[in-house]
Amino acid sequence: MQHTTYDFGLVGLGVMGRNFILNVADNGFTAFGHDLDEEKVQALREEGGDTARVDASADRKAFINALARPRKIMLLVPAGKIVDGVIESLLPLLDKGDIIIDGGNSFFTDTDRREAYLQEKGIHFFGAGVSGGAKGARKGPSIMPGGSKAAYKEVQPVFEAVSAKFKGEPCVAYLGPKSAGNYVKMVHNGIEYGLMQLTSEIYDLLKRAGGLSNDQLHGLFSRWNQGRLQSFLVEITARIFKQDDPLAGGRLVDKILDKARQKGTGKWTSQNAMDLGIPIPSIDIAVSMREISALKEQRVLASKAYTRPTPEPIAVEALETLSESALFFSFMITYAQGMHQLADASREYGYDLDLGTIAKIWRAGCIIRAALLEDITKAYRADEGLENFLLSPAFIPKIQESQEAARSLVAYAAKSGVPLPALSNSLTYFDAFTSDRLPLNLIQAQRDHFGSHTYERTDREGIFHTEWDE
Ligand code: 6PG
Repeated sequence: MQHTTYDFGLVGLGVMGRNFILNVADNGFTAFGHDLDEEKVQALREEGGDTARVDASADRKAFINALARPRKIMLLVPAGKIVDGVIESLLPLLDKGDIIIDGGNSFFTDTDRREAYLQEKGIHFFGAGVSGGAKGARKGPSIMPGGSKAAYKEVQPVFEAVSAKFKGEPCVAYLGPKSAGNYVKMVHNGIEYGLMQLTSEIYDLLKRAGGLSNDQLHGLFSRWNQGRLQSFLVEITARIFKQDDPLAGGRLVDKILDKARQKGTGKWTSQNAMDLGIPIPSIDIAVSMREISALKEQRVLASKAYTRPTPEPIAVEALETLSESALFFSFMITYAQGMHQLADASREYGYDLDLGTIAKIWRAGCIIRAALLEDITKAYRADEGLENFLLSPAFIPKIQESQEAARSLVAYAAKSGVPLPALSNSLTYFDAFTSDRLPLNLIQAQRDHFGSHTYERTDREGIFHTEWDE
């Protein structure tokens, strides 16, 4: 018999949705799912077991009627027009005060538009980034909600219960008004792109120049994961090297085509950073590398058209040591760029973000979880006004100590013809960020020379223009 007061509703019973709703039910809440696909509905009913605890229907009205008021309805459907379509279909059945939570990777301006639209109708709308993939949704994701603070109180107990826990603390927190949640998730994904690119570059170097086998790579990444590089991405990287190929034998990683796809969140992070005027070159190049990877046919032709250097001999032990330090260095630089973007976006969009809280809820559950985030949390707790943690006294020695390895590795890889674009960009960003003088005085002179664009001076106030000698 159908319960009439299920605590939580979920639309979209794909893998993420099904896992999330089962997680809600595991945590003592009753939950009701909805999907137009009858098979998905049945799959959930079977997996859920007790329908008084978790049930589902392909019928929209039955779904809406099953939920306790104010209804709390989470959407886990693909970002874009589908979200608008689902909202429109639910709207006539909802009551004032009901809450819709978009748990997908929606573009933040879409969230702002939807929130304003639904506010007129008395419906609260939340954009909540959910990270951790299918397993995270089932066992505990990191959740990044933004929207009306009062409405958040209604969903807070569910989110806190289902989220990942770091030392007992839930990896979810109210982040700010409007699209703050989706924005933070977008930047999370930008950082994710950067870290993945960096890891793959180090893999390339160790394989091409160091000649490491998959077993050796597995051992090395596993060891690294016991130290300061401890993170979800390093952990799964270690495991990937061990995975056998069930189709053709050997290791699966060697059979995977080197063309990476993307759904857009990394690109959005870069595009928006450009709009804000915040440099995030480690993330930008990670997006570009996915694009270069897609040019497989041209890359194959070009690889035949040019001679390339062969890697110079290097002691494997030294290469491994340098790689660990350089990866640590560039991970820090990548997080620093993402956090800087968040600091600026907070002002620009009125999110009033607390960067310490964001780092804190990323410590478990999400794709970029890493031991490093504990230190990042502390750095922002120690100085609430901190924009870029490269200026944090706690980070200066860590970066100072690891920069030399990044330099040696970039120089070695350049001579050896192994591309380390995100690592080089991280180092270049660091060198530029720590330069009290950059050669942009010359750019200002050039601009004024050809376009009378004016310049400022180092020795006096004001705006100047010069009639340059021909
Ligand atoms: C997460 C991930 C996830 C994202 C995938 C795929 O935090 O769980 O960020 O939300 O969809 O990582 O992203 P791309 O297809 O763009 O690589």
